[in-house]
Amino acid sequence: MIINASPRAPKSNSKQYAQLFSKYCSLNTEYCEVKKSNHLTLCQMIENYSDIVFVFPLYADSIPVTLLNFLKTLEENIPSKKPTISVVINCGFIEPYQNDIAVKMLQLYCSKNGYQFGSTLKIGSGEAILTTPFRIFLKAKMKKFAVSIVNRRYKNFQVTMPISKKMFIKASTIYWENYGKKNGISKEQMENMQIE
Ligand SMILES: Cc1cc2nc3c(=O)[nH]c(=O)nc-3n(C[C@H](O)[C@H](O)[C@H](O)COP(=O)(O)O)c2cc1C
Repeated sequence: MIINASPRAPKSNSKQYAQLFSKYCSLNTEYCEVKKSNHLTLCQMIENYSDIVFVFPLYADSIPVTLLNFLKTLEENIPSKKPTISVVINCGFIEPYQNDIAVKMLQLYCSKNGYQFGSTLKIGSGEAILTTPFRIFLKAKMKKFAVSIVNRRYKNFQVTMPISKKMFIKASTIYWENYGKKNGISKEQMENMQIE
């Protein structure tokens, strides 16, 4: 069972990562998105699966509130059979280690609530990597991640774009400035706290 817990699930990068996982996983998979109104339905479904893969972004060095709220509901609605929980997390910054704290939060949740923790795939440059030739590295890691779950030999993986931080910042600044321009928003407006 693949659970996309991105706050913008239908249009998310997480959705693309979930689709890739599904493609490379030789077991039958079911894809679901966390919505405000479907927590209980998801909790009921969970006991039918050997494994769950949570796919979500890093938000403010942590797990997004979409996932946090779902985990709270799951804590109160314990499935009769508990699957192994694996994680695909992607962040905007280039360093996969940015995701470490969020992964630890999931590991703590699993140990407190009696779930076995499975594999991890930490993705750096998660907003960009799929649109670059470096997606081949992402695909290779996703394949290994999927195989580790199928074989129940759980492991940790990470991937990012193999470029320098300086180059990453330069390229991403140009990207976001052009993105702003397309939407009639200047760099100064984007740097303003009123942007939301
Ligand atoms: C509110 C917010 C907070 C974010 N915080 C971080 C962060 O702390 N570190 C980081 O590397 N990326 C951060 N990002 C970037 C997202 O992790 C990145 O854009 C990701 O690809 C979004 O995935 P999604 O499309 O699956 O939701 C943040 C994005 C938003 C919108």
